[in-house]
Order: sequence, then C-alpha cells, then structure tokens
Amino acid sequence: MIHLSPSLLAADFANLQRDIELAQEGGADFIHVDVMDGAFVPNISIGLPVVKSIKPHIKGVVDVHLMIESPERYLEEFRKAGADLITVHVEATHHIHRAVQQIHDLGAKAGVAINPGTPVSMLEPIIGEVDMVLVMSVNPGFGGQKFIPYSLEKLKQVKALAKAAGREDLLIQVDGGVTLNNAREIIEAGANVLVAGSAVFDGKAAKENAQAFIELFKEV
Ligand code: DX5
Ligand code: ZN
Repeated sequence: MIHLSPSLLAADFANLQRDIELAQEGGADFIHVDVMDGAFVPNISIGLPVVKSIKPHIKGVVDVHLMIESPERYLEEFRKAGADLITVHVEATHHIHRAVQQIHDLGAKAGVAINPGTPVSMLEPIIGEVDMVLVMSVNPGFGGQKFIPYSLEKLKQVKALAKAAGREDLLIQVDGGVTLNNAREIIEAGANVLVAGSAVFDGKAAKENAQAFIELFKEV
C-alpha cells in the first residue's frame, strides 16, 4: 500500500485544522509535520505546542520529521504531544541507534532520515531496527524545491537493502519536490510513503490534490 503524507509546511498556518481535514477528506492517511530549529537547517518552522493542538484533528499517522540538532533532547515531549512516528536525521545525532531505541521505548514508530549528500550505506547497521527510512529528495529546510533526480537511485538502494535484511515491511518515505508528475517513478523506485507539501496545499484545492495522488497510487 502506498501512503500520502501531506506536509503542513505548505499549508495555511492560520487554518491548519481546515487544511488537515481537506487533505484527509482527499484520502491522506499520514500528516507530515516538519519541525526545524534554525541550526540543523536554515529555517525555523513549528514545534511542540502546534503538534499538540493539531493532534485531535489527525485521524491517521502523526508523522513528525525532526530537522533539529540532537533530537534525543525532545523525543519524549514530541511523543507526549501526539507523534505516532518520529523521524530523526542520521546527521543530527552522534547516537542514531540510541535515538531509535528511545523512540521505541516511548511507544512510537521510529524513522531515520538521510540528506541528499548522505549515502544509503549509513543505514546498513540500523535497517533492521527502524520502522521507516526517509530519503530526502531536496536539501531540508524549505518547501517548494525541485526533486533531486539521484534520489531515485537512493530509493532503489534502500529497497535493495531492506530486501537483503528481510525487511520487506519497511516504510520507505520520500520528501521534497514530489508532484503528480514524478510520483509514479518515485513509487517504482521503491518509495511507499510520499510526502508532498506544495503539491497538496495549493490554496483550497487540497482535497482534490490529495485525491489525485490517491487515484494515481491505485494505478501504480
Ligand atoms: C523540507 C521538508 C519537506 C517539505 C516538502 O525540509 O522536510 O517536508 O515541506 O515540501 P515540498 O513537497 O513542497 O517539496
Ligand atoms: Zn519533511
């Protein structure tokens, strides 16, 4: 099954509830929340209080993407705020294995993200431990950027690594520059959770945009 995780970074922050509901009406089963600290990435977005406020309106998976330095400092609080799936970057911590253990100890699903410049081989020692791998297909920090083509190769590598490790159940997420035009080749390369920000939250057409992705998922 292919999942759609609309990124709220492109939603109207004054109308988050409305935009979440529209995306869900369109068929989105994850909601992607981008947390940025102005240090790991050159931007600041939203944090704990916003996750807490939107939690009651999210029917599916609260998918929290932490783009923050030393994310282990905040794992417990994001879990308490309502995160179901917490993704940390391998580049943001000295102890990725421990961070994954901590997320599991908190009762959440654990994701591990790699930036465009980070090789898939970084994931080898932990592929057996994680619920999801996130392949960044833009440099994190901003929405509306162009998909980096080499990400397709990385998705194929992650899929092969998962297969070799007997992890056919692994969620493989792709984030950045995903559109209706490239979604098919992204899925064919191995992704099964597509994050899409600007491609979903285009004004009030979020429902129709999400629906178009779901229709496409049925054809692939
Ligand atoms: C980028 C974020 C993405 C971003 C995607 O740092 O992690 O989730 O919102 O936005 P689009 O889909 O517009 O590239
Ligand atoms: Zn993201």
